[in-house]
Amino acid sequence: MALSRGEVILVERLVKRYADGGEVGPISLRVGKGDVYGFVGPNGSGKTTTLRAVLGLLKPTSGRVEVFGMDPWREAKRVNSLLGYSPELPNFPAFLSARQVLEVTGKLRGLRGEDLKREVERVLDLTGLVNHADRRVGNFSKGMVQRLSIGQALIGDPELLVLDEPMLGVDPVGRVQIREVLREVSRTGKTVVFSSHELYEVERLATRVGMVYLGKTVMEGGIDEILNGAGGLRVRVVTRVAPGDGVVEAIRRIEGVRDVRVEGNSLTVFSDNSTDVRDAIAERIVLSGCGLLELRTERPSLEEVFMERVRTVGRG
Ligand SMILES: Nc1ncnc2c1ncn2[C@@H]1O[C@H](COP(=O)(O)OP(=O)(O)OP(=O)(O)O)[C@@H](O)[C@H]1O
Ligand SMILES: [Mg+2]
Repeated sequence: MALSRGEVILVERLVKRYADGGEVGPISLRVGKGDVYGFVGPNGSGKTTTLRAVLGLLKPTSGRVEVFGMDPWREAKRVNSLLGYSPELPNFPAFLSARQVLEVTGKLRGLRGEDLKREVERVLDLTGLVNHADRRVGNFSKGMVQRLSIGQALIGDPELLVLDEPMLGVDPVGRVQIREVLREVSRTGKTVVFSSHELYEVERLATRVGMVYLGKTVMEGGIDEILNGAGGLRVRVVTRVAPGDGVVEAIRRIEGVRDVRVEGNSLTVFSDNSTDVRDAIAERIVLSGCGLLELRTERPSLEEVFMERVRTVGRG
């Protein structure tokens, strides 16, 4: 299947067999224009391999990779001119300052004179490095190196950002800052793909998520689709007095309810998506006389969805 309109990256059944026998794949993902795509999966599951294939840094053993409709392996130069990349373990010449690193990158992207200066200032500001701009990178902390690496990817305002573990080692304030920068980038119609282990981070930033496990894609979709669709509905109920066995049993018998967990005067009801069970739960609670204080719908966290998925794959 070829890239359709609005699609920036297409990876279809990518398999990479390394010389030492290690194998990754089949991995598939689709990234649309303006997406903030979070690529998640445990260590060694193939995230970096996939991103490197997208950059044209490695040749897939089989499968298809298209970026802006091009084969990145064959047209690496053209593809790379449209994207910014922050590698997993950024490494800069220790004697250069942050400003110099960004200037070199800007020059490589064809910027000169005032345009270059303005762009470097813009990125220093975006990444929160203004006050460290003239310090040697060799003396930078891990989080500062990471910010510089993201900055380097941002130089020249490319159409696509590919960031391998951008939050690694960055403090909470820095994370908020980076999240805002990436959201802003996507608001202007640019596309962001990032890998991460930190599902909480992914959940807050990504509009689309791809999950790899044991080298294979196990889930892909819009973040809302994944979080709403997975695991059904979850209703949290708080009562004035702890509910008795009778009412718990009555709730358990409601059509669509899969499980009920009780903890003191709070109940969690798990149901499938076939019926909205909220009215029925409220009715049972009110009738039992234990007093309805609160009833709200919760959706599972990405971490819960992922763990559930991992368990299913493990069983299959
Ligand atoms: N250059 C290489 N030579 C041989 N095997 C490799 C190479 N690069 C990656 N692999 C193997 O491919 C598999 C996937 O590795 P990859 O780095 O893509 O995973 P990852 O999802 O990025 O992991 P992490 O979360 O640790 O960064 C691993 O089994 C790894 O050993
Ligand atoms: Mg990796």
